[in-house]
Amino acid sequence: MKITGRTRLAGIIGWPVSHSRSPVLHGFWLDETGVDGAYLPLPVKPDHIEQALRALPVLGFRGCNLTVPHKQAALAIVDRIDPLARRIGAINTIMVAPDGSLQGTNTDIFGFSENLRELAPQWKPTSGPAVVLGAGGAARAVVAALSDAGTAEIRIVNRTLARAEALAGDLLTPQTRITIHSWDEASAVLRDAGLLVNTTSLGMVGEPPLVLDLSPLPLSAPVVDVVYVPIETDLLAAARQRGHPAVDGLGMLLHQGRPGFEAWFGAPVRVTDGLRRTILATLVPRR
Ligand code: ATR
Repeated sequence: MKITGRTRLAGIIGWPVSHSRSPVLHGFWLDETGVDGAYLPLPVKPDHIEQALRALPVLGFRGCNLTVPHKQAALAIVDRIDPLARRIGAINTIMVAPDGSLQGTNTDIFGFSENLRELAPQWKPTSGPAVVLGAGGAARAVVAALSDAGTAEIRIVNRTLARAEALAGDLLTPQTRITIHSWDEASAVLRDAGLLVNTTSLGMVGEPPLVLDLSPLPLSAPVVDVVYVPIETDLLAAARQRGHPAVDGLGMLLHQGRPGFEAWFGAPVRVTDGLRRTILATLVPRR
C-alpha cells in the first residue's frame, strides 16, 4: 500500500477494535482493486463516539464501519438513517455525504441476504416459514432481511422470551407474521419450515454446543449458521450429513463489507475464494 496526497480514507471505529477483521477485509480489496485508499482501525472510547463521528468529514474521511460498543449509540448521532437500520436499532456503516452530513446504514442485512443468495440459490422467501434461533443483534438483521425479502412467517426461538418479544415488536410488518418460541419447542417448529438460521453464539469455539434435533426439518430447507469460528459448526455438519444445503457465516461477514467499500472507494468488489482463504487464516480459534 502506498499513501499519496489523494488517498481516500475510511476505517472501523470500536472499543476495543484490534479484534476486528475489517482492516484485513478492506485491505484485501484495496490491494485487489488498486484503489488509492486506506482503511484504518480507529479505537474510540464510548464517551468520545460523537466527537469522533463529527470529526470524520472534518478530516476528509469518506466514512467508517462501527463495531462494539458503538452500533446503537451512533444511531442517535448521524444525520440520516435508512429505514431498515432504524427498525433494527443499530448501524454498522456510515457514509459521509458531499455536504459533510453522515448517513447511517446497517449492511448486515445485505450481508445475510447476499450470502444466502450465493450459497443457497434455490431458497425462496416463499419456501415456507423461517426459523431463527436467537434474538440478539444478529437476529435482528436476519429477521429484517427475511421480512424485507417477503417471508410470510418467521418463528423466533430464544432463551429470553422478553428479548424475542421486543424484537418482534420492533420488526413487525403487515406482510410478516412473527411468532415466539422457547427452546423446548425448537425441534417442533422446524416441521414444514423452509429455512433455519442460527444467530446465537451456541456452537462457537468456547461457547456451549447447540443441541437441536433436525429430523423434523424438510430436507429442502437450507441451514444457515452465522457462527464462523469454527467455519463448519456441528449444526452445519449435521445439516450437511442429512442433505440440507448448508450456509456458513463467513460470507455474511464478507458481503456486509461491500456496500461501504463501494461507496467510500468507488470500486465494485466481490467475495472470492481467495478472500475467504485470507480471512479464514486470521480466524484463530480462541479458548
Ligand atoms: P449478537 O449481537 O451476535 O446477536 P447478542 O446480542 O449477545 O449477540 O445475542 C446472543 C444470542 O445468543 C441471544 O439470542 C442469546 O439468548 P438470550 O437473548 O436469551 O441471551 C443467545 N445465547 C447466548 N448464549 C446462550 C445460551 N447459553 N443458551 C441459549 N441462548 C444463548
